[in-house]
Order: sequence, then structure tokens, then C-alpha cells
Amino acid sequence: MSATIAVLAGDGIGPEVIAEGVKLLRVVDQRFNLGLNFQEALIGGIAIDQTGSALPAETIAICQAADAVLLGAVGGPKWDDPSAKVRPEQGLLAIRKALGLFANLRPVTIHPLLIDASPLRRERLEEVDLLVVRELTGGIYFGEKRRERDDRGEWASDLCIYHEAEIARVVRIAANLARARHGKLTLVDKANVLETSRLWRSVTTRLMREEFPDLVFDWMLVDACAMHLLRRPADFDVIVTENMFGDILTDEASMLAGSMGMLPSASLGEGRRGLYEPIHGSAPDIAGQGRANPLATILSVAMLLRHSLGQEEAARAVEAAVSAVIEAGIVTGDLAQPGQRSYSTVAVGDAVAERV
Ligand code: IPM
Ligand code: MG
Repeated sequence: MSATIAVLAGDGIGPEVIAEGVKLLRVVDQRFNLGLNFQEALIGGIAIDQTGSALPAETIAICQAADAVLLGAVGGPKWDDPSAKVRPEQGLLAIRKALGLFANLRPVTIHPLLIDASPLRRERLEEVDLLVVRELTGGIYFGEKRRERDDRGEWASDLCIYHEAEIARVVRIAANLARARHGKLTLVDKANVLETSRLWRSVTTRLMREEFPDLVFDWMLVDACAMHLLRRPADFDVIVTENMFGDILTDEASMLAGSMGMLPSASLGEGRRGLYEPIHGSAPDIAGQGRANPLATILSVAMLLRHSLGQEEAARAVEAAVSAVIEAGIVTGDLAQPGQRSYSTVAVGDAVAERV
């Protein structure tokens, strides 16, 4: 086989963690004979500096021609003015939209040795294995935005809009994943207040009854979900939810795992092509110091191998290597226990690569 990977390192710690992801992919390529080639492209702040756009047309073309996209992170203090016309985050939203990546998978699992890195009590965290499937190209993120002035002063609005078909396609992906996991799907919405949520509720209920009667299906209001993620996280299997609720809940859920530096993500559409990125941001405060945890990117590489290249065995080899490295105590500062030595981004990346 052969496959092309578009590599969008972005800003801040993006280039450092992506270097480890690419290094690992080259090792996997050798061992499993994947015939990979890599195409670098610009996104985010660095793209603004070099081209004036957070997502140059050339980057879109490279991603559209690729089998998968590996992305680091975008943003930083240099481009942080929220009133600026061009912002790094626009690049991220635009690439998701341009590639039709409507389903964002954010798994949360905790290696037993890292439980103490979480602010939550150990007994709450044992057995946690959940997956949030976040709708990624609709809702309030992409609805019409207005900013105007009338006799009472300035006003602004963001439209939250969902079509039935947009809900059904992401719920189908989530339900199929639940079927291959522990057989339970939870819809998270705000159906006691929002009309969009009432549509989510009715479309999902019907679809689950007609197409997935074998699964356990329930729903939960988003505020209650925020509480239960801390109170009884082990009860969840797959959560499916709209764009903004998913954004907020996944930052919360990441703290179950102790560090944002551990959590990967995959964004998928109708075909096999996907975009893979760590869920953490560009962490400008530690950029360029070799302190960033590369494991979220490396675990995103495992998801890339699984979902876009169909290389389950290679994906498992990467995940096993990550576990082995954690067990050997080779971790960055965010995970090191008091008194434990911490390793650099490159050292952790090398340790994973050696074990694949
Ligand atoms: C995320 C991020 C983005 C989002 C931002 C940077 C636009 O928070 O991927 O979760 O809100 O989707
Ligand atoms: Mg977010």
C-alpha cells in the first residue's frame, strides 16, 4: 500500500509534538511496510504570518489530496486579539469544515499508573473508559454571526442551527462505535430549554430505536453530565453531543486523565480520510523548551493508523508502546510524580519509537 499524510504542525508546542508523531510514523512505516509519504503545510498563526490567512488554499489542497491529516496546535499570544480580523482558530474551524469532518472522537482512558496525576480520587477513576463523540461542523460554531448597534447600544448574536441529517449522521457514527465497545450510548443535550436539543432528542431516540435496538440508550442534560463526569465517570461508555457542549465537556473530561497532554482525538467524515490532533492547545508558555508531552500526539497517530489507514495491528503496537513507556517511568514533567525524574519531549518520543 501507500498513503500520504498531510502534516500541519501549527504553533507553540505544535512543531515539537508533531516531530515526535512523524518520527514514530516513520518507524511504524518501516515495520509494517505502509509506504507513507509526508506533505507539510501551514495552518494557524504561522500561516497568518507567512501568507495572511490562517488556512491558505494550498493547505486545503494538500489535505484534500491526503489520506490523513496530522495536526499539532494553533494559536498564541502574538495572535490573541479577539477582535482581530484573522485569527489562528479560524484555520482549525475551516479545515474541519473543508474536509467535512463532522464527527470528533475524544476518548478518555487512564493508565493505572497515572491515576494519581488526576485531581480526582482514585476510586472514582478506576474503570474509566469513555468516548465523547462531538458534532464538529454545525451548531452555534457555524451559524450566522451578527454584531450590530441600535438605540440601546451594541448587540450580538450567534445562531445555533442543526438539520436532522446532521444529527443522524454523527449519532450513527457514535452508535456504531458504542456497539464495538461496551454497548451504551448517552445523548447529552439541553432539551429542557433549547429547540435544537429537542430536535437532537427526537432524531436520536427514533434512530436508536430503529437502527440500534441492541444498545443501551439514555440521555442526560448537559449540566447534569458536567456533574456526573466528576461523580461517576466510569458509568459512561459513549457520549454523543452537539458541537459546543462537546467542546466544554471534553476539556472537563480530560482532567480525569490527569493531563491534557495524554488525550488524542480523531475527526472523521463520510470517507476514510480523517484529521488527528492532540486535544491540548499550543501551550505557548512552554513552547520551545522540550517539555511538552508528546503522548497525546502519539496516541493520535494510533487513531490515524486505525481509522484512516485500517492498520489495527500497528495502532495497537503504538498504544502498547505508550503503556510500556509510562510503566518504565519515562514521562514528561506534567505526569512525573514529586521526586520522580522527568524526561524531555524528544526522550519520550524516542522511548515510544524504540518499543514499536
Ligand atoms: C477544540 C478547541 C477549538 C474548538 C478552538 C481552538 C476553536 O477548543 O478543538 O476543542 O473550540 O473547537
Ligand atoms: Mg476545546
